Amino acid sequence: MKTLTVLSNFQDDYGNVIDSPTVFDRNISITIRGKNNRVLIDREAKITGLRLQFDCDNGTLIVGPSSKHGFNMFIRIGQDATVKLGADVTTTERSIVSAVEGANVTFGNDVMIASGNHFRADDSHPIFDIYSQKRVNPVKDITIGSHVWFGDQAVALAGAVVGDGSVIGFRSIVTNTIPNNCVAVGSPAKVVRKNIAWERPHLSYVAPPYKPDASTVEKSEEYWNPTQEPARSLSPTDRFALNLRRRAWHVRQRLFNN
Ligand SMILES: CC(C)(COP(=O)(O)OP(=O)(O)OC[C@H]1O[C@@H](n2cnc3c(N)ncnc32)[C@H](O)[C@@H]1OP(=O)(O)O)[C@@H](O)C(=O)NCCC(=O)NCCS
Repeated sequence: MKTLTVLSNFQDDYGNVIDSPTVFDRNISITIRGKNNRVLIDREAKITGLRLQFDCDNGTLIVGPSSKHGFNMFIRIGQDATVKLGADVTTTERSIVSAVEGANVTFGNDVMIASGNHFRADDSHPIFDIYSQKRVNPVKDITIGSHVWFGDQAVALAGAVVGDGSVIGFRSIVTNTIPNNCVAVGSPAKVVRKNIAWERPHLSYVAPPYKPDASTVEKSEEYWNPTQEPARSLSPTDRFALNLRRRAWHVRQRLFNN
């Protein structure tokens, strides 16, 4: 086992490699237990604190560039697991990210994370069905889109997917799919507002001191989009009926074209 207190270019005899052209030497603790783990940090990345733990083999951490204040995270990466942070991912205080057993935890660009947030693709400990002996809590990937805001202590658990431009409320717990440009709150998080867009300027310490409409902020236009309804999953009867309609439509097209 190796523990580093500086994040910079590094490699050892076990195939563990860190590629970090910029040196980070404050609030860093990197523990590597296994082999063939990889860290790829963009030259323009901003990291205010990182406790990184590779428990097994073949783990990957990728961190994108940042023009904002950066992030502070405790990231645990297990066997064959990957954590990816896009550009401009920020946290107010330390967040926890966990990906083990081949899971992927992915953050898009411009994700704003508050304080005390968790992103857990696994439950840390196994739970089994006593009759079948099978695991009942498999790991599941987590995908956080771009320009997503996680309020204080909001959490994403195994299987969480959050669409671009959405807001997850204070202490809310995402366990399923939340569409784009909406506000979702509660446990499990449910959509309470659609067709919204949020912006980073703070309500009090960025002027103007009142922001009643969008003319008071610079809009990140690419994230001002209507909420798309998630594709409805069809029952077997609905699917059969839809296939019949499709076939009839193709037959009509052929007759019409001849
Ligand atoms: C998510 C949030 C931004 C939504 O604000 P909003 O769109 O104005 O939502 P509203 O206050 O109109 O609430 C809509 C509904 O959701 C409920 N709700 C709002 N936030 C909730 C939360 N965190 N958990 C559970 N329910 C919540 C409200 O009670 C209301 O329910 P109702 O329709 O049954 O009355 C806000 O509630 C929130 O969580 N703020 C904290 C943000 C934060 O953590 N900032 C820290 C620094 S980044």
